[in-house]
Amino acid sequence: MRTKQRVTGKKTDNHEHVQKESGAMTIIVKPAGYPLKGVFHEYPEPSELDVFEFYAREQWNGYVVKKGDFLFDRRMFPDFAFRVVDVEPENSKIGKNTEFIIEDYASEFIVPEINSSVKFKDIVGQDKAKQKCKIIGKFLSSPDKFGMWAPKNILFCGPAGTGKTMTAKALANAVNVPLLPVRATKLIGEFVGDGAREIHQLYEKAEELSPCIIFIDEFDAIALNRSFQEIRGDVSEIVNALLTEMDGIDERDGIITIAATNMRETLDSAVRSRFEEEIEFVLPDENERYEILSSYTKKFPLKLAKEVNLEKLAKQTGGFSGRDIVGKLLKTALHKALLTRGKVKQHHFDEALAEAKNKASKPPEGMFA
Ligand SMILES: Nc1ncnc2c1ncn2[C@@H]1O[C@H](COP(=O)(O)OP(=O)(O)OP(=O)(O)O)[C@@H](O)[C@H]1O
Ligand SMILES: [Mg+2]
Repeated sequence: MRTKQRVTGKKTDNHEHVQKESGAMTIIVKPAGYPLKGVFHEYPEPSELDVFEFYAREQWNGYVVKKGDFLFDRRMFPDFAFRVVDVEPENSKIGKNTEFIIEDYASEFIVPEINSSVKFKDIVGQDKAKQKCKIIGKFLSSPDKFGMWAPKNILFCGPAGTGKTMTAKALANAVNVPLLPVRATKLIGEFVGDGAREIHQLYEKAEELSPCIIFIDEFDAIALNRSFQEIRGDVSEIVNALLTEMDGIDERDGIITIAATNMRETLDSAVRSRFEEEIEFVLPDENERYEILSSYTKKFPLKLAKEVNLEKLAKQTGGFSGRDIVGKLLKTALHKALLTRGKVKQHHFDEALAEAKNKASKPPEGMFA
């Protein structure tokens, strides 16, 4: 039985850009719900989707597809849409040799970053965090030894740009385990139920990959205090899913959850209490700022002029985070110098510093004093 493709794809042999010779080699599709009915949260179980491959070719045979098109199911789940994430080659026709890949619903949120090159020695200061990470590293290297004493849920808190993400990456890199990064804001999906399902899938995936680290960034976005949750619709559902997984993790050996937040105080107390340790990241002091300035300028593709006074810059950057120093000061100064094709001079830094201070519209307390 043939089906009509409704939205963007065209069933034609005369399409200008159609790859006629061989047709589509690979098409990656992603389940997209029922856009025609305005119902989005019904969703076939992955096991049911397994058979999808067998009839996809037949029901969409002859359709020309490009990235972003919708393909509507007519058989198992009438009107259920699949969005075309990728077609190889682009704009080609579905034929008998086309291979279909269904993108895992979770894969959008889980990208193992196994090959991060960040090392602990690159992180200036934050000694407590580094020390704790060494312990976690020992556990990840031999999860069986720790039993009930295994570290599980750790909270990284502190101002933006102080090295929280960097530290999680360095840990994963040091013990060579996968880091599953997930932005909490991404978990608040478009559809009710999405977030809870994703959390469950995240932990299932982690179990497969264990030993590994789940790194939930922007944690406050979901785990906020219950008085805020009401405003955010399905957020409390996500919090409950998270609590279940964090508790249930006893049986999931070799998984560490690290959550990061800039706003520890707004966290839901039930969620917050699940973390055995809160590790505070702090803004760098003058010595640490000097160390950051000095180590990053060593990686400059241009030479520093002799007159450049990094000690003075360290003094002038009170309240700057590591990210401010690297992104706002050093990068801007380097870019200015690149325009002149000479060395990086003191005036490049001075100008960049003035701009950085100007840009900070609402400095936190004590910043740029
Ligand atoms: N302690 C540090 N030592 C060296 N570099 C640092 C340090 N802190 C920050 N940086 C620099 O700033 C960048 C951003 O840091 P990172 O992403 O780890 O901050 P974060 O604490 O996760 O911030 P956010 O709360 O916004 O997620 C790093 O990639 C690094 O270049
Ligand atoms: Mg971060």
